[in-house]
Amino acid sequence: MSQQALERPLSGASAEAICYHYDVGTEFYRLWLDHNLTYSAARWDDPCQIAGDPVSLELAQDAKLDFHLKALGIGRGDSLLDIGCGWGSMLRRAVEQYGIATATGLTLSADQHNYLRALDLPAVEIRLESYEVYRPVGKFSGIVSVGALEHFTRPGLSAAEKVAIYRRFFERCRGWLNPGARLSLQCITWGGRVPRNRTGCIMAQDVFPETDPPYVVDVLEASVETFEPLYMENRRSDYIRTLQVWLQRLRARRREIEAMTSVENFGFYERYLRRSIYGFKKKELQLCRFVFQRH
Ligand SMILES: C[S@@+](CC[C@H](N)C(=O)[O-])C[C@H]1O[C@@H](n2cnc3c(N)ncnc32)[C@H](O)[C@@H]1O
Repeated sequence: MSQQALERPLSGASAEAICYHYDVGTEFYRLWLDHNLTYSAARWDDPCQIAGDPVSLELAQDAKLDFHLKALGIGRGDSLLDIGCGWGSMLRRAVEQYGIATATGLTLSADQHNYLRALDLPAVEIRLESYEVYRPVGKFSGIVSVGALEHFTRPGLSAAEKVAIYRRFFERCRGWLNPGARLSLQCITWGGRVPRNRTGCIMAQDVFPETDPPYVVDVLEASVETFEPLYMENRRSDYIRTLQVWLQRLRARRREIEAMTSVENFGFYERYLRRSIYGFKKKELQLCRFVFQRH
């Protein structure tokens, strides 16, 4: 991590808080995520279909990656920035399936950074850096961020403070995009009826420290000066189904997980997945996708 990143505190989850959750070991996550290690809600059957056939987690994750890449309208020779790139599934799909010429990913997780550096993927640049510190040399054809916005503010901030942080995020993205280019976002948002003073205790801080997702209105208010909203969907069912598959897979690999990490770690993740399913079912949590176009 750069000296600058170490010196300046971040507005949301610190690098230490991110590593606490994500740096449990890539091989541990491989036991229960899909084979591309995508760690966010998949996109299951299309809402326009009356009764979509059940598909595998793998196909639903690809459908999610495709949703965002198609929303950006980018293709051969273009450049992509992925803010919060995880283990790189979006970057790989962009390069391998869409002919993207340069795909840059930001992460705060040292494990994810090391994993991607070791793969040495052509056309992919991976940086261990917050979006708050990153200074790109050129502009991008599109920006995507999936499952990262949740980490950009901490519990205990007022609504105005949160909106100000998200506004800075949108201002940065606008400055990094070519005129008319798009930003595709996916994140957990608080259900509209969850009181602001309850979020800190609902979001388990022992699972995701220093993390407080936005409300939909925060995202829309923060982006109004910089982006035109083109599309928004809330598909809680996408996260419920993804979490259910993760939970099944986690339980199926219990013995290996306990041997690889610990009995306590297995119990911890099982509880976290069960609690998350409950939160989405109760409408405390939502799963939103937003497509924006640069003003
Ligand atoms: C839930 S994971 C999602 C990863 C990936 N987008 C996916 O769908 O598989 C959240 C990601 O956001 C990253 N992240 C969190 N805060 C960040 C920040 N301030 N700047 C850049 N990345 C950040 C984490 O390091 C992690 O890679």
